[in-house]
Amino acid sequence: MENIITAQNVKRAFPSGDGLFYALKGVDLEIQKGALTLLRGRSGSGKTTLMNILGALDLPTEGEVLFEGKDICKLNENQRSLLRRQKIGFVFQSVALIPIMSAYENVEFALRLAKYPGDRRARAEECLKMVGLGARMNHMPQELSGGEQQRVAIARAIAHKPSVVFADEPTAELDTTTGLQVVRIFKDLCAQEQLTFVMTTHDTGLMEIGDRVYELEDGAFIHG
Ligand SMILES: Nc1ncnc2c1ncn2[C@@H]1O[C@H](COP(=O)(O)OP(=O)(O)OP(=O)(O)O)[C@@H](O)[C@H]1O
Ligand SMILES: [Mg+2]
Repeated sequence: MENIITAQNVKRAFPSGDGLFYALKGVDLEIQKGALTLLRGRSGSGKTTLMNILGALDLPTEGEVLFEGKDICKLNENQRSLLRRQKIGFVFQSVALIPIMSAYENVEFALRLAKYPGDRRARAEECLKMVGLGARMNHMPQELSGGEQQRVAIARAIAHKPSVVFADEPTAELDTTTGLQVVRIFKDLCAQEQLTFVMTTHDTGLMEIGDRVYELEDGAFIHG
């Protein structure tokens, strides 16, 4: 299968005291198109740091990241911002829906920001139905459970038809059953919408569901 992202020898150093701390110590990975890739590791192992680099939010100190064959380290700030807007969706751990907008309005607003060229109403409704919220799209975030809010966030992240969706610990605040439901939605969307998902987790219970699992320890992969 085709790789949508390829990373080679990615390092990321942060200033620490009078030296440098390497949060990533040279990782290689491939994100396959249409697959669900899991990044697993303990707190502080470098998951978010890596995901931010793969999602063009941050740049590596060293190494190469190819996104659909293009080296994203060579793009300037504007080009990276455009890449994120058009090709990438993000689901964050703490949901961050806009509290004064309904579920539907949250998704529709994201389509507007992405300058989605098609019928925004139809697409927003379609995405909310895909995550099982067809009957709740006019609810306000505070009227939805944590799992439901997370599903609105997923609908919002996929609505503009990105190539890749990055989800940083999307199940951390959910119980096991609801967390599994959310990951199943990712899995179904990979097939239905030819989407590619990259998700971080420290939950070992979710391992089997990933098409590919990378395990981080102190900024390096242990196997896989
Ligand atoms: N901006 C920063 N400046 C300095 N150190 C940082 C910065 N961001 C992350 N780090 C350090 O890099 C390491 C990896 O952090 P990262 O956030 O990637 O971990 P994580 O695997 O996502 O952890 P968690 O599961 O707690 O979210 C940590 O030791 C962290 O303190
Ligand atoms: Mg993290």
